[in-house]
Amino acid sequence: MKKRHYLVTGGAGFIGSHLVDRLLAAGGQVSVIDNFDPFYPASVKLKNITDHLQHPSYRLYEVDLRNYGSLETIISSQPIDVIIHLAAKAGVRPSVTNPLDYHEVNVTGTLNLLELARRYRIGQFIFASSSSIYGPAATAPFREDAPLLPISPYAATKAAGELLCHTYSHLYDLRTICLRFFTVYGARQRPDLAIHKFARLIAEGRPIQVYGDGLAERDFTFIDDILQGVLAAIDYQQSSFEIINLGESGTITVNRLIGLLEEALEKKAIVEYHPPQAGDVPLTHANIEKARQLLRYNPTTPIESGIGKFVEWFRQEQQEIK
Ligand SMILES: NC(=O)c1ccc[n+]([C@@H]2O[C@H](COP(=O)([O-])OP(=O)(O)OC[C@H]3O[C@@H](n4cnc5c(N)ncnc54)[C@H](O)[C@@H]3O)[C@@H](O)[C@H]2O)c1
Repeated sequence: MKKRHYLVTGGAGFIGSHLVDRLLAAGGQVSVIDNFDPFYPASVKLKNITDHLQHPSYRLYEVDLRNYGSLETIISSQPIDVIIHLAAKAGVRPSVTNPLDYHEVNVTGTLNLLELARRYRIGQFIFASSSSIYGPAATAPFREDAPLLPISPYAATKAAGELLCHTYSHLYDLRTICLRFFTVYGARQRPDLAIHKFARLIAEGRPIQVYGDGLAERDFTFIDDILQGVLAAIDYQQSSFEIINLGESGTITVNRLIGLLEEALEKKAIVEYHPPQAGDVPLTHANIEKARQLLRYNPTTPIESGIGKFVEWFRQEQQEIK
């Protein structure tokens, strides 16, 4: 039987490198596009993909999504079954000071890929969207049909990406599935994200900066649960366009999160409170009924048990650095 060929953009990053692990383990052919964006060190991303580089069914293209010609060379030269588009400028707060770059990578980059998916007749396109697009006013738990009122350039670019996916699906018979990820954590988590950043600061005995009163609530999703949803979306064929939340459907406050980290790390945090930052939303909370129905999604790792798994990985990393 012919191997399925997956093109994973952002495959050197946190979620992408985990997805590549799974696709290779399942016997797939995997091509990755990643430009090793300097948002966090390339050395971290290289470490994520060390094993992949040895694999005979893996190929890495160090290419920027903004470069349509280079993308075309890659996509036109091999039969690709599914594109899983995870590459993006991530992070809400830096987008507030740098909206143009976010637009170019997240909107124009996504359009470049959709256009090539259309021209080279790729069957399925999965797009990594974000819970941040709901904005501050949605009724919790957020349903996919809630009105979108993004309050950061990052969130607005993800909403634009979803609209482009819908348009391409409608006009050009390209199946597109937009997955709204709710803050993802686990081994290899991006160093800028709260759980990883807080763990590092607590371990080093340095103060944690909390913006707001620490009562903001987040629905944190464990990486294995996100992968469960992404892998199911890759096989989903019942309709030509869907938007689906992938979360844990439980929330905790930032203060409680710090408490859980203190317990797991067996060390007290020094917490400094500051005024809230522009672009941050007070709450994310996923309604996951649609994911349960369409993808048989069944998340199994609430934050209370996931934190322990994260800290296990974090301690190993710290050991290796020493
Ligand atoms: N991690 C989360 O909590 C979360 C939540 C919601 C949505 N998402 C989305 O999921 C996707 C993956 O997130 P992640 O946390 O793994 O981020 P990540 O930063 O670890 O991975 C993204 C990868 O994309 C690459 N990239 C960035 N700009 C690029 C460009 N111009 N050309 C080619 N490659 C480029 C980066 O080098 C990186 O390896 C992103 O689209 C992100 O917006 C993540």
